Amino acid sequence: MSKQSQVNKKAWSYKANEFWRNNLGAPTDVAKDMLKQPNYYLRRHIEYLGDVNGKKVINLLGSCGKKAIPLAILGADVTVVDISEENMKYATEVAKEANININYIVSDVLELNINEIQDSFDIAYLEGGILHYFVDINEIALKIYNLLKVGGKLVLNDFHPFRKILKEPDIFKEVGDRLEIGGNYFDDELNVAEVAYEKFFPVNEQNEFPKCLLRYWTMGEIISSFASVGFVIEKLVEGPRFDSHKNIPGEFTLVASKLKIILPHTKG
Ligand SMILES: C[S@@+](CC[C@H](N)C(=O)[O-])C[C@H]1O[C@@H](n2cnc3c(N)ncnc32)[C@H](O)[C@@H]1O
Repeated sequence: MSKQSQVNKKAWSYKANEFWRNNLGAPTDVAKDMLKQPNYYLRRHIEYLGDVNGKKVINLLGSCGKKAIPLAILGADVTVVDISEENMKYATEVAKEANININYIVSDVLELNINEIQDSFDIAYLEGGILHYFVDINEIALKIYNLLKVGGKLVLNDFHPFRKILKEPDIFKEVGDRLEIGGNYFDDELNVAEVAYEKFFPVNEQNEFPKCLLRYWTMGEIISSFASVGFVIEKLVEGPRFDSHKNIPGEFTLVASKLKIILPHTKG
């Protein structure tokens, strides 16, 4: 496993289950709510995912299952890949309580052996804090491409690269009235950063948390890498930040397809 993945695995293996229990809720309550309103959990991306009933979906970096289980409730055949066993424990407990099957694979996505599952998925769905876990963006883009069947669709939602120019790149951190510029949009280093949920724990516990190693990508690098592995880009939708700074981009969703390209001279 790469040094970056080892570091991030360690970070996401520390108190993740505890966080989901405190933040999302007890598995039995969460399962009940997901069964009651699965679309609510997918509301930001359902228009891009379309009707998932009967579809084979791979939810890479699927974390606590908060997207995978609602997708399965809506009739999808869902596979999650995530590096953290803590996340798997929570997700499988919620799935069990909801009486729903999901296939949860604990693995570094870069080390996933895809021989048996390549070219098989209708949809690859990734959301909310994804690309910064990869020091080689082409490698992850190609992995996703190879998992999809011809005609398959990618729905990738992530934090907007605009955050790179801000002093505080974590878009969920309280920044007050003024956003300070202080970052470097063209920074190509690995950055030491807090695991996403560290800030939700008491201050006196925070220094116990192992850190993440993150590589923040520019919009040009993201689009170029997905295009270069063969994806046909359908749309790139940009959305505002989640805090009060609604005039600043906070997230984006890339919708792209794996199409069979028939060149004119090979037709027929
Ligand atoms: C920020 S979450 C994204 C999902 C969701 N938005 C959430 O908030 O939980 C990032 C997830 O990526 C996983 N992860 C990080 N690096 C990974 C890797 N190399 N392979 C597989 N999973 C990885 C972490 O365990 C974590 O569950």
